[in-house]
Amino acid sequence: MPCGKLQRSPSMVIDRTDSLWYKDAIIYELHVRAFYDSNGDGIGDFAGLLQKLDYLQELGISAIWLLPFYPSPLMDDGYDITDYRGIHPDYGTLKDFKTFLKEAHKRGIRVITELVVNHTSIQHPWFQAARRARKNSAQRNFYVWNDTDDKFPETRIIFTDTETSNWAWDPVASQYYWHRFFSHQADLNLNNPKVVQAVGQFLKYWLDMGVDGLRLDAVPYLCVREGTNNENLPETHEVIKTFRRLIDQHYNDRMLLAEANQWPEDVRPYFGDGDECHMAFHFPLMPRLFMALAQADSFPIVDIMEKTPAIPDIAQWGLFLRNHDELTLEMVTDDERDFMYQEFAADPRMRVNIGIRRRLAPLVDNNPQTIKMLNSILFSFPGSPIIYYGDEIGMGDNIYLGDRNAVRTPMQWSIDRNGGFSMADPARLYHPVIMDPVYGYQSVNVEAQMKNQSSLFHFMKQIIGLRRQYKAFGRGSLTFLHPENHRILAYLRRYKHEVLLCVVNLCDTIQPVNLDLSEYAGSTPLEMFGRTEFPTIGQTPYFLSLPPHGFYWFKIVPQAKPIGTLDMGASFEKTMPKVVIESGRDSIWEMANKNILEKDAFPRFLPNQHWFIPTGQKISQTHITDWVKISANFWITFVNVSFEDGSEARYCLPLRIALDKDAERILEQVPKAVVCLVNIRQEISGVLYDAFLTKWPATFFTAPLKTAAIL
Ligand code: BGC
Ligand code: CA
Repeated sequence: MPCGKLQRSPSMVIDRTDSLWYKDAIIYELHVRAFYDSNGDGIGDFAGLLQKLDYLQELGISAIWLLPFYPSPLMDDGYDITDYRGIHPDYGTLKDFKTFLKEAHKRGIRVITELVVNHTSIQHPWFQAARRARKNSAQRNFYVWNDTDDKFPETRIIFTDTETSNWAWDPVASQYYWHRFFSHQADLNLNNPKVVQAVGQFLKYWLDMGVDGLRLDAVPYLCVREGTNNENLPETHEVIKTFRRLIDQHYNDRMLLAEANQWPEDVRPYFGDGDECHMAFHFPLMPRLFMALAQADSFPIVDIMEKTPAIPDIAQWGLFLRNHDELTLEMVTDDERDFMYQEFAADPRMRVNIGIRRRLAPLVDNNPQTIKMLNSILFSFPGSPIIYYGDEIGMGDNIYLGDRNAVRTPMQWSIDRNGGFSMADPARLYHPVIMDPVYGYQSVNVEAQMKNQSSLFHFMKQIIGLRRQYKAFGRGSLTFLHPENHRILAYLRRYKHEVLLCVVNLCDTIQPVNLDLSEYAGSTPLEMFGRTEFPTIGQTPYFLSLPPHGFYWFKIVPQAKPIGTLDMGASFEKTMPKVVIESGRDSIWEMANKNILEKDAFPRFLPNQHWFIPTGQKISQTHITDWVKISANFWITFVNVSFEDGSEARYCLPLRIALDKDAERILEQVPKAVVCLVNIRQEISGVLYDAFLTKWPATFFTAPLKTAAIL
């Protein structure tokens, strides 16, 4: 191992036995054409994305959601597909895609792609065949036709800026065809089992290749029936169940994600009884986060979450602040919509269809604290968070581009030409890179932010890292506390022994809050970003004050009290201190446990080791300055040892926690290696022992992992 640098663990690949991976996922949404252009033609491609995988790994995300990359005339950014099995030549080849997939998996990153089955481009060979085929023939019936354009009058129009009807006349077929979106996107006839079967084949095609999840685009509109508004029909749910059966028959760890822009009670059926989609976006939450911000009031958020029905155990919500579409205002009341337009889209150019075409940073006037606060909600609410590419560095938008392209400009990597996105002539780029003084690539780019520890990028990296440490975020229950100060949003996330408390100030002035935490009297809130211990909770209201748009994440740490000990024999009992582990293994690093290691275990343990360099001085204290998790049970710690004369030494101490039988076995084999005895509470008991110890930095990087392997 080279000196001075910790290398990534080579064993980091996706775990195919982890069928619930999406419940703990952190998803990064990107368009391959917007990310990185490897060949200088002005369009991002898979070879470019491959080069940027290390960046995404560094950020810490666990899944990539790729917007459509299939052959297409690109009149709806690729949602108008002409070949479900191919790759658009602008983006590379199937081989490039497979290489990307393999490399993503090697980095522990899953890949979610688009299954756009509601419609195809009218240039798709199926449509071309259908329009030429006989009326009512098998080929014609792949799409939905009618002789007049007045069928289904109850159905709303979605793209209100461009379409006046859901029917379009086809002179070749001499009939009208049905389309819920642009008229160049004809709706497939999913009432026809042959179409369902054909779709099932390319679903399998991508999953067989190794794709981990499929986003079901526009899923509420798959089937039609006269006399209805053609949304959320039972027939549509049957189609989804068919896809799901296909998945369950062949795979163990694949996921279907429903894009159903509907009210929570209408989205709930897309999870079925655990037999439809694994995930669904929570559309109505998103505008309410912005509403709560504009009104400095927790009500819109609490209200929509309390109206959100429970979902099956294996299901998960997909949460987002922004995405590639407009900030949709379909799932709000008329008054709320007016309010949102007024607050967030005063310039009519900022509006498209029924929504707002702006990115996160401009929506909040580029206030870094507000961006962080909204992300704190995104990352701590029940569901898996989705980051829209570029929002992790606070990219801006270009409202002078048409349609939703305002938020689809090239990723800003550096101050180089075209923001480091492409070597092409600027005029050749698929869209111009942002160049204004506030959001332009000279001010907002990855390179600068990676170098600046106080950048938004580093905040995002940190919040992702924290989120990944606690299962409660992805899997726990949500309980709102209802403080009198309605400007404060406060909630508990609980899962098994994990209890997390999140407190958010929605207001742009400092706010006080009293929280009723008496249920946790005796416990200590540990602030999760700085690991600062707050005063112990008592019976009286717990007082906090929050800076403008500030937030806190606390882990509620129960009072440490040993409940019993493993029987290690008398001499062990005498020499070794106890460490209580209350919940997960990671709780070994909680303040109380860490204190025992630092103040008791290490000072007693170190001087007796043969490799310890005696200074003739007594150890006054030790301090664990940092630790790196190597595997579930194994860490490397960096320990500062202070001696009574004020001198110091640094040691690297690899530690492993062993549980139950494993612990007993190790104790039998290497009794002298034991550092300290670990508790006994609930399901976890074990010993913590050292693998080996070397003085740092002299020899640290020469042996450790090898020695660890002996374990
Ligand atoms: C996608 C849009 C697209 C539409 C039609 C939506 O749900 O998110 O970007 O225009 O489907 O395919
Ligand atoms: Ca290219």
